[in-house]
Amino acid sequence: MLNRVKSLPKDFVWGGATAAYQVEGATKVGGKGKTMWDDYLKAQGRFSPDPASDFYHCYPEDVKLAHQYGLNAIRVSIAWTRIFPNGYGEPNQAGVKYYHELFKACLDQGVTPYVSLHHFDSPKTLFDQGDWLNRQNIDYFVKYAEFCFKEFTEVKNWFTINELISLSLSQYIAGNFPPNHHFDVTSAIQAQHNELLAHARVVNLYKSLHLDGRIGLIHVLQPIYPITETPENKHAAALYDAFINRFLLDGTFLGEYSDETMALINEILEKNGAKLEIQDGDMAILKEASTQNDFFGLNYYQSQFIQAYDGPSGNKFNGTGDKGSSSFSFHGVGQIVQKPGVPTTDWDWNIYPEGLYDILKRVSKEYPNSKTIYITENGLGYKDNFVSEDQVIDDEPRIDYIDQHVAALLKARSEGVNVQGYFVWSLQDQFSWANGYNKRYGLFYVDFDTQKRYIKKSAEWFKELADTMHS
Ligand code: BG6
Repeated sequence: MLNRVKSLPKDFVWGGATAAYQVEGATKVGGKGKTMWDDYLKAQGRFSPDPASDFYHCYPEDVKLAHQYGLNAIRVSIAWTRIFPNGYGEPNQAGVKYYHELFKACLDQGVTPYVSLHHFDSPKTLFDQGDWLNRQNIDYFVKYAEFCFKEFTEVKNWFTINELISLSLSQYIAGNFPPNHHFDVTSAIQAQHNELLAHARVVNLYKSLHLDGRIGLIHVLQPIYPITETPENKHAAALYDAFINRFLLDGTFLGEYSDETMALINEILEKNGAKLEIQDGDMAILKEASTQNDFFGLNYYQSQFIQAYDGPSGNKFNGTGDKGSSSFSFHGVGQIVQKPGVPTTDWDWNIYPEGLYDILKRVSKEYPNSKTIYITENGLGYKDNFVSEDQVIDDEPRIDYIDQHVAALLKARSEGVNVQGYFVWSLQDQFSWANGYNKRYGLFYVDFDTQKRYIKKSAEWFKELADTMHS
């Protein structure tokens, strides 16, 4: 591995990823408005978004650690509700000031900020009006984006929305994000389309402003494999792939939903009594944006194996880390099954680095408009074991995971796929939306009571990797 890393260009990006709501804490500080999560988490009573990793106050230390451990970039998101507490209206100057200070701290440390405008944290006011299902939301998002582009000119790398599929799937299919709908297929597909439109309008706007910077969006991609090569299972894989990968990739990089994609989507909609509304002019907006993305943020965690299934839809979500407690069956589409020999995490996520290689090859072949690819998230959720103040936290399984996935990236790169960076999820420990504080991902351990940071072995491993590249 280290030898192969040496061949990377010196400006290859090694970053650590975060998301505002998962790290900042301080949800009632500096005039911040509520997101769709605040009241929901309170009512649920499982865990609180405060203090999270208190990044709102601790960012100088975290950015410094990033630099010390060889990272030359950081992914952060702006909390829409720190800038516009209700999603629209007058900007909140305390929020604006906070992000200027954060970006300055990054740039001073030589840690380039890659900034998302939306990472699962819709303003509560807009959420109550329908969130992405309400097309007016798109107008508010465009205005918020325009404000940020003109204000934060020090930011040169923008992502519009993070993981459109995770948001819509979690909100409307799996039901583990507010508003907790289960298999509401109409809302899930409509939210995807509307978010694509929002992304496209923001890209078109950004380009018309002729700013000095780059823009793209982030999709999490999950390769879907038939559990066995029967025609039924292959068709199930094609259907589910269309629903979670292909519809979004087509919309982003082709600016149209291909006939083959729509045939698969329509089959799913029909079988589930669902529909999708595309208004006049929508596709022209997607088309215009499809060639204008400067880069593509690809998040990868796992692949899925599927078998044909016509029974009722249902799912069990493993939000606790009790291995083997999840299941997912989608009527008329397929049932997720375990592939013998493929290891899984405590949260039942398949560890399958081959999937990253396969999806990189596919994206670069089928969607050349994706241009430059960054792996914007990849990492292992793990119950890290803190032993003592003076002992480095041993997270060998995380190192194995990252090592295997970086190797897959390097293999794809050596075969011509234009990958220019890798962001580990996550920089420091933070809470996980539907799991809470015990699913840790960080290179740096956070004691959530004291907010002290501790080094994990994976941070040392990462430093060696970055040093080798620069040697
Ligand atoms: C991605 C998100 O879906 O995966 C992150 O962009 C998230 O916000 C990460 O935390 C890991 O998922 P989870 O459910 O384990 O927290």
